[in-house]
Amino acid sequence: MTATIAPSRVESLASSGIESIPKEYVRLNEELTSMGNVFEEEKKEEGSQVPTIDIKDIASEDPEVRGKAIQELKRAAMEWGVMHLVNHGISDELIDRVKVAGQTFFELPVEEKEKYANDQASGNVQGYGSKLANSASGRLEWEDYYFHLSYPEDKRDLSIWPETPADYIPAVSEYSKELRYLATKILSALSLALGLEEGRLEKEVGGLEELLLQFKINYYPKCPQPELALGVEAHTDVSALTFILHNMVPGLQLFYEGKWVTAKCVPNSIIMHIGDTIEILSNGKYKSILHRGLVNKEKVRISWAVFCEPPKEKIILKPLPDLVSDEEPARYPPRTFAQHVQYKLFRKTQGPQTTITKN
Ligand SMILES: [Fe+2]
Repeated sequence: MTATIAPSRVESLASSGIESIPKEYVRLNEELTSMGNVFEEEKKEEGSQVPTIDIKDIASEDPEVRGKAIQELKRAAMEWGVMHLVNHGISDELIDRVKVAGQTFFELPVEEKEKYANDQASGNVQGYGSKLANSASGRLEWEDYYFHLSYPEDKRDLSIWPETPADYIPAVSEYSKELRYLATKILSALSLALGLEEGRLEKEVGGLEELLLQFKINYYPKCPQPELALGVEAHTDVSALTFILHNMVPGLQLFYEGKWVTAKCVPNSIIMHIGDTIEILSNGKYKSILHRGLVNKEKVRISWAVFCEPPKEKIILKPLPDLVSDEEPARYPPRTFAQHVQYKLFRKTQGPQTTITKN
């Protein structure tokens, strides 16, 4: 039996003064395409751009205003499956508190953060961590993270959350509560846009009791060879919806119409992905887009992601009967969320291909 070796922290590796990165952190060949300088990529004005969706009107009392806002959201969800949300209703002040709390934690010395280390080998995935080489490719990602469930409140375990800084728990709790409300608003609009009852998608993903919000802070240290490094490998999110904040350092790329498009940094926005769960329920009408993360030499990148996930076993995910017909047969077999995650992991270990899972 081999002893479990604690994963090394990317932060420690990055600050050790290395000029080339260990081979485990290099992307597979087929993924080394268009790995330009992310700051240059972000400035490009030509070509496709991730849509920006103003959602202040999606709950408007005026049916005309509401209808128009819902159609805009629908178009973005069908064409891209990812968008910048503006006027989302969460205050800049609360968002700043969440960012400051996460950043302050990551500024602690590695030894301090290790006190919160998770133990993936024992199945304890919550806490401070780095990716383990558990896939067939043996690849590692150039990031450390902090991960925990943040909502509903009766399912979270505050003993796993950072105690430092003191505002971490209040800020992340409040933010999670507000995001949960935003998720309901979005799910309602996505339901109406498909001709479904307003509360349908919300109910299908578990409702207030069962939909889980998983909070993850991704910390990407500066990297000596960003043109080779695997920041985040190409994947689609398994969630229903994913909401992302970042520290205005570019890095997210979307695979749109055969090309990698770099997302611009839009002030005060929240990036939202449609995940596989909604793609399946909508029988492919809404899209879960392939995306990846790039790192850079000059700046640390931090992102704060909230994955809204259905319960692992309680719900069978399958295209809604209302959206299936002879002309549009079901495109996905019924499966639980846990089975879907397993299915994607299995495909991933079957050899190189790009559609692979990860949150
Ligand atoms: Fe993702």
